[in-house]
Amino acid sequence: MLDYDREAARYDATRGGDARAEAAAEAVEELLPRQARVVVDVACGTGIVTARLRRPGRRVAGIDRSAGMARMAAARLPGGVVCGDAAARLPLLDGSADAVTMIWLLHLLDQADSAAVLAQAARALRPGGRLLTTVDKNHAAYHTGGDVAALLGPVRDAHTPPQSDALDRVLGVGSGLGLTMSGRTTFAGLGQGRSPRSWREVIPKSPWGRRMDAATLAELGSRLGDLPDQDHPRPDPVYTLIALVKQD
Ligand SMILES: C[S@@+](CC[C@H](N)C(=O)[O-])C[C@H]1O[C@@H](n2cnc3c(N)ncnc32)[C@H](O)[C@@H]1O
Repeated sequence: MLDYDREAARYDATRGGDARAEAAAEAVEELLPRQARVVVDVACGTGIVTARLRRPGRRVAGIDRSAGMARMAAARLPGGVVCGDAAARLPLLDGSADAVTMIWLLHLLDQADSAAVLAQAARALRPGGRLLTTVDKNHAAYHTGGDVAALLGPVRDAHTPPQSDALDRVLGVGSGLGLTMSGRTTFAGLGQGRSPRSWREVIPKSPWGRRMDAATLAELGSRLGDLPDQDHPRPDPVYTLIALVKQD
């Protein structure tokens, strides 16, 4: 995982900034029950999405493991942010939250930690409460349609192990915790579409690029180099957010 303490200062500017955060917050709002009064954003990061969830009559809190990220979130939500590891324990009483949100967290965790975070969220939710989480996060960048995605998607999939945030896996773990899928929506990673040239630079440094043999990597680079409009960004990735309801 990235060192988010070091990443904190540049996080917002490099992850789509306000436009991406606004799109993510709108997607969350779409799946949140209107009457949700206690909402906890797990892995709140800089709080750029979290702060947008505040409403009259709703209490919104954030938790993040990185002190650097949590400090930035605290500036946006004074008194509402805790620094802590959500896989170890959420600082919430059992059944005390109406909703727990997790934007772009599970894909970062190994299978054990992602299961632990889901279990903590299930414990903290009241019966009928909602867990909202992104799924298939990294998959999104390679399945946007268009020439680059058509080229990269199959190669990336062949060099990528099962992901902790795969929809089927999240539903399977959720089912063991009394959580059932109740909704689904999407939001755009505005400004995150890459050009062929940019992909040629990032793939060798990516986890799946590092798993490829040199010949496959060179072949992919060459095929990317043959595409037209080398500096023209391709479509923004579209991220999936699901809601799970805690059974009574
Ligand atoms: C990709 S960022 C997403 C931040 C925010 N949700 C957003 O959409 O802008 C992932 C965040 O997860 C946090 N994180 C990773 N593992 C965590 C854990 N076990 N408990 C709490 N936060 C964690 C990182 O510190 C980082 O801030």
